[in-house]
Amino acid sequence: MSKYPKINYIGNKNKLTDWIVDNFPFKEGTVLDLFCGGCSVSYALKEKGYRVYSNDALYSNFVLAKAIIENSNVILKTEDFDFDIPKKEILKKYKEISFLENRLYFPNEVEELAELVCKSEKLENYKKYLFLSLIRRSMIRKIPYSRMNVPWDQIVKLRDEDYSYAKYKRRRAYHNLPFIDHIYDNLDNYNDSVFNNNQDNKAFNKDAFEMINKLTEKVDIIYMDPPYPATMNKYGDFYGMYDSIFNKEINYINFSENNKFLENLEKLIVKCLPKTKYIVISENNKTKPSISEINNMLSKYGKVEIKEKKHQYKVTNKENKNETVEVLIILQVKENK
Ligand SMILES: C[S@@+](CC[C@H](N)C(=O)[O-])C[C@H]1O[C@@H](n2cnc3c(N)ncnc32)[C@H](O)[C@@H]1O
Repeated sequence: MSKYPKINYIGNKNKLTDWIVDNFPFKEGTVLDLFCGGCSVSYALKEKGYRVYSNDALYSNFVLAKAIIENSNVILKTEDFDFDIPKKEILKKYKEISFLENRLYFPNEVEELAELVCKSEKLENYKKYLFLSLIRRSMIRKIPYSRMNVPWDQIVKLRDEDYSYAKYKRRRAYHNLPFIDHIYDNLDNYNDSVFNNNQDNKAFNKDAFEMINKLTEKVDIIYMDPPYPATMNKYGDFYGMYDSIFNKEINYINFSENNKFLENLEKLIVKCLPKTKYIVISENNKTKPSISEINNMLSKYGKVEIKEKKHQYKVTNKENKNETVEVLIILQVKENK
């Protein structure tokens, strides 16, 4: 039974992790999950006993990787965050994060969030990262469509419970609960996800290229699930406002920019070659570049194997059943003699 917590990450591989990991060329060793997102693949790898390095350009994903991948035994108790913050401090933080006002939340909610951010700054190590992960979870629960780029007038409309009920037969009252209620609701779920697999797992918050540059050892597998063009791929827009609250935005290569995806991917692959034995890439038959284009590019660098599995993605619009073929492209890197 998976203990992976409720994260709700756009483009996640939650339902595919067993299939992905079962097709890995090694049953043990070190795996770098270079675009870890909501950490679903990292978590499954940790469960199967690998040493896991999780990396993502977004701080909101880094805090998750710290809390549930790197952390092996620390849990967060209600008394850890049951203390008062001086009003002056809250107001200062409230000013700093006022860009969220009438953009993501109502003013009184931003003030509540400011207090929670102040609390997070007083916590240490993994307790801090668990609390930050719970702040993330509460922020996402309060926004319709669970992403931060919904226009404010839409948010206001969808958070009107009567409107929501009339239109969708669901009140979605959870959008209107205070942040702290969501934190309490999810606390056990997140604590239960913490476990020790007796490996030295690590979390990183770097651009993928930078991560490979800084990698000082050779790993067994680099797993890549990058943002493909023409998919829901605006991760900075979906979650970046979280990073802004904590002043943790970094610069990173936008893979999908100007049809440069394949070029960027090849540059990244070339950088990875001396640092790994295998590269495993997730793709599907609906995305571009096509599987054969990626296959052709990779074949220059070693032996390529392709695994396929039919998969039904859950989509909001029930009419639109989105059956895809999920693909794993596995490159065995040519050894340099
Ligand atoms: C498709 S999602 C990964 C989903 C993940 N496998 C999961 O199951 O949740 C792609 C991720 O790549 C990250 N990303 C985009 N550009 C990046 C870059 N240049 N360096 C590192 N990460 C990047 C995004 O923040 C996003 O989390």
